[in-house]
Amino acid sequence: MTEPRRPLMAGNWKMNVNHFEAIALVQKLAFALSDKDLEAVDVLVLPPFTDLRSVQTLIDGDRYRIAYGAQDISVHESGAYTGEISGSMLAKLGCSYVLAGHSERREHHAEVDEIVAAKVRSAQRHSMIPILCVGERLEIRREARHVEYVLGQVEAALGDLSTEALSAIVFAYEPVWAIGTGEVATPEDAQEVCGAIRGLVSQRSESAGESVRILYGGSVKMSSVAGIMAQPDIDGCLVGGASLDPDEFIGIVRYRLLAQADQV
Ligand code: PGA
Repeated sequence: MTEPRRPLMAGNWKMNVNHFEAIALVQKLAFALSDKDLEAVDVLVLPPFTDLRSVQTLIDGDRYRIAYGAQDISVHESGAYTGEISGSMLAKLGCSYVLAGHSERREHHAEVDEIVAAKVRSAQRHSMIPILCVGERLEIRREARHVEYVLGQVEAALGDLSTEALSAIVFAYEPVWAIGTGEVATPEDAQEVCGAIRGLVSQRSESAGESVRILYGGSVKMSSVAGIMAQPDIDGCLVGGASLDPDEFIGIVRYRLLAQADQV
């Protein structure tokens, strides 16, 4: 029997929340989430760089069972790269996860597949888990090329990674047309692509295919999470806007209760 995959709910705060607000937000999450919630689901916050030290101090000091990580990482180790943040700096701050290739980075910062691949490796060199983000724009979906396109992004980022390195990646399928638009992919749309990603990983390594976690992201809310989480190849969500509202994010973490309520 293979181990069931642990659900992961990740809050991508993007460029919101200063370090004072970050403390308040993490405290609210920590007070509201019970041991039972945190035993069932891994909870992760991805604040802006400037909040990380405050978040680290709070989480370590009060021993909260909430993980934290960064929204981006430099491909370089150190040196004359003004404005960049290295993997060793993030690891030193206790980050356990790093986003790689979020569509906003791809779009506004010209992050092509080669850079995304280098970011995945940069995170892994420092023992952090990369969350590899992939997803198609609307015109690609309209042309029904979304599966092929997303698998191309995944292949390009994986390159010749070893099975061990492959098993230590989290994937996030985020259709660009669903991010911040209120337009959620249907659970079936999300499953189609997440299932295809798992199929690709399984071709490289059956065990990695069974164990890797695949998240869905794009306008996830309390009202839509249960249907998404009911899909066999979806193991969690990457939540943007709704992660800034503690009640909404807590509701998402407790999606099981929402699913039960739906059945009553
Ligand atoms: P959204 O963002 O939930 O606001 O659509 C998701 C993301 O970009 O990670």
